[in-house]
Amino acid sequence: MSLEVVHTVSELRRAIGERAREGGTLGFVPTMGALHEGHRVLMREAKRRASFTLVSIFVNPTQFGPKEDLSRYPRDLEGDVAKCAAEDVAIVFAPSVAEMYPDGERTRVHVSGLTEHLCGASRPGHFDGVATVVTKLFAASGPCVAVFGRKDYQQLQVIKRFTRDLLLPVEILGVPTVREADGLALSSRNAYLSPEDRRRALSIPRALAAAARAFAAGERSTVALKAPAVQALTDAGLRIDYVALADPDDLVPLDDRTKERALLAIAAFAGTTRLIDNVVLGEETGP
Ligand code: PAJ
Repeated sequence: MSLEVVHTVSELRRAIGERAREGGTLGFVPTMGALHEGHRVLMREAKRRASFTLVSIFVNPTQFGPKEDLSRYPRDLEGDVAKCAAEDVAIVFAPSVAEMYPDGERTRVHVSGLTEHLCGASRPGHFDGVATVVTKLFAASGPCVAVFGRKDYQQLQVIKRFTRDLLLPVEILGVPTVREADGLALSSRNAYLSPEDRRRALSIPRALAAAARAFAAGERSTVALKAPAVQALTDAGLRIDYVALADPDDLVPLDDRTKERALLAIAAFAGTTRLIDNVVLGEETGP
């Protein structure tokens, strides 16, 4: 069967139902479009884990703050559909805002604790928007294996948590961050970067790599792991939102000394573009 593009929940349920009746299992990759190689790696992983693949493309307004880039977020449905076709995706779900948020809707999904630190602290309401839309997407798709990137590490932990807490019939799979040859994590927002900002942004993966080397050499002091990263980003001309060491499971910030595993997460602005990246020290070798 060739790629089918659907725009409503009822069309989506019919398209999935037809394939599931033939015994197929569903692999689901939720996205906001402007698809790049990182998204495509998730599609390949979904394909490996299930018999047919669904990609959703929806720029979710509730996860953007009032001063964020909702209106200028890159959109290219035609190009995205072509990329999905090249990855042998079965169904693309590209709903309208009114389809996902019916008139008069009043419901939000909130995960406490996990959303208080890191991006949750600097983007109030962001994770409520993510948790709400992904819950709706899972309600629309039904049982599946859903694939997410570790680049958005906090998002992945939040999604794992509400999926478990709400008894959703979905298995969550996390995939390592896909990077450019020079280490920069792929992101739809990289399209905003001027050549100069892109050069500056390279300080982020370099700082993560330096911290990973220090950790591998035995460094466990949080100050000693974070301070060189802060210095390197500042020297490169980035405006730091946070450089944080946190417990990789509950995301609570670590003070003084790290344990045998520690999440090092960075958020910084190159010009007006906010970039995030991370490495789990003790688990990944780093960029
Ligand atoms: P978006 O930013 O489009 O990302 C969709 C998926 O691609 C997420 O799981 C994200 O972690 C993953 N991804 C992005 N860049 C990646 C990279 N360089 N390597 C590996 N995976 C990468 O994340 C969202 O959309 C939204 O918040 C969404 C979950 C769809 C809810 O609206």
